[in-house]
Amino acid sequence: MPVITCIDDLKRLHARRTPRMFYDYAESGSYTEQTFRENVTDFEKIRLRQKVAVDMSNRSIAGEMIGTPVTMPVALAPVGLTGMQSADGEIKAARAAEKFGVPFTLSTMSICSIEDVAAQTTAPFWFQLYVMRDEDFVDRVLDRARAAGCSALVLTLDLQILGQRHKDLKNGLSAPPKLTIPNILNMMTKPEWCLGMLGTRRRSFGNIVGHAKGVGDLSSLSSWTAEQFDPQLDWTKIARIRDRWGGKLILKGVLDVEDAQRAADFGADAIVVSNHGGRQLDGALSSIRMLPSIVRAVKGKTEIWLDSGIRSGQDVLKALALGADGTMIGRSYIYGLGAMGEAGVTTALEVIRKELDTTMALCGERDIRNLGPHNLLVPKDFEGDWA
Ligand code: GLV
Repeated sequence: MPVITCIDDLKRLHARRTPRMFYDYAESGSYTEQTFRENVTDFEKIRLRQKVAVDMSNRSIAGEMIGTPVTMPVALAPVGLTGMQSADGEIKAARAAEKFGVPFTLSTMSICSIEDVAAQTTAPFWFQLYVMRDEDFVDRVLDRARAAGCSALVLTLDLQILGQRHKDLKNGLSAPPKLTIPNILNMMTKPEWCLGMLGTRRRSFGNIVGHAKGVGDLSSLSSWTAEQFDPQLDWTKIARIRDRWGGKLILKGVLDVEDAQRAADFGADAIVVSNHGGRQLDGALSSIRMLPSIVRAVKGKTEIWLDSGIRSGQDVLKALALGADGTMIGRSYIYGLGAMGEAGVTTALEVIRKELDTTMALCGERDIRNLGPHNLLVPKDFEGDWA
């Protein structure tokens, strides 16, 4: 059993144990991948302020996200095709999150359905919605999420048109994978993954199959988004969905101060400062770089969460110290899932918890709620001077 000390260890195992097309799907940004890379490298530019000779006993990293108690302010982000990284992947991730005490978000484009995940877990999870052209489908999926006890809706605003990820096109990404010679040869090198997949019936988009009408090639994410996602999504349509849902609403994919103000005025319970992990608008600035200006604009009016680029508990601490009220992780737990299934997701969360707690202590803080800019050394030109 390999010794896992950091998220990168899980990433290496994920690459080894999961078919190439699914690892690549997770590990891709759009076009040149500049934004995907900078999401990570911009975190590295922020440094930590060491404080000594302070009592660091009785520390707490617990908190709340939209009123839900969390053992640390790190929720599992919605990730499409999670059940292709490991058989029944969404159920495994949701169980790990539940045991750990952090929220799990189920993607519209999941393999396990809303009902499947609800049947296999006890804690309420959050449901992420992609708005489709077919309003009837949207209304029914909201009803299904409500019936399954989902406690918040995460509405994604930055993917009505899919950013191009070159590797997905080259690999012919689909769920389930097409049985071509290169795919078969690659899958033969991943015996555990194959066994898992042979042992489950969940191998295609569980929220869609049998629920959406007139759908062409369901197995392909790119043709599906092009055919089904509603390119006319605007604030009027968002209001319709808010009213139809009637519960807690999180608006995900906000990367601009004006959009953040609009979302806060709209009454979102939380916004997620995000560029979709660098998978959508390549050339956009990193989430962590956009965070300070968004914090200045809407802090206290809505909860501000951040995703895109978090690969450690230190990154979580940096986001919180810059003013985020919470964070979401995508790849960091997907690496764990692809590496070791449910145990890998738990390991990813444990790694992040330990890094967060230790770093907080060495920064001289005992309570995560006291983190602030005073804990950081941020380069003067970090935000950039853009015209
Ligand atoms: C879908 O959410 C994707 O980023 O592929």
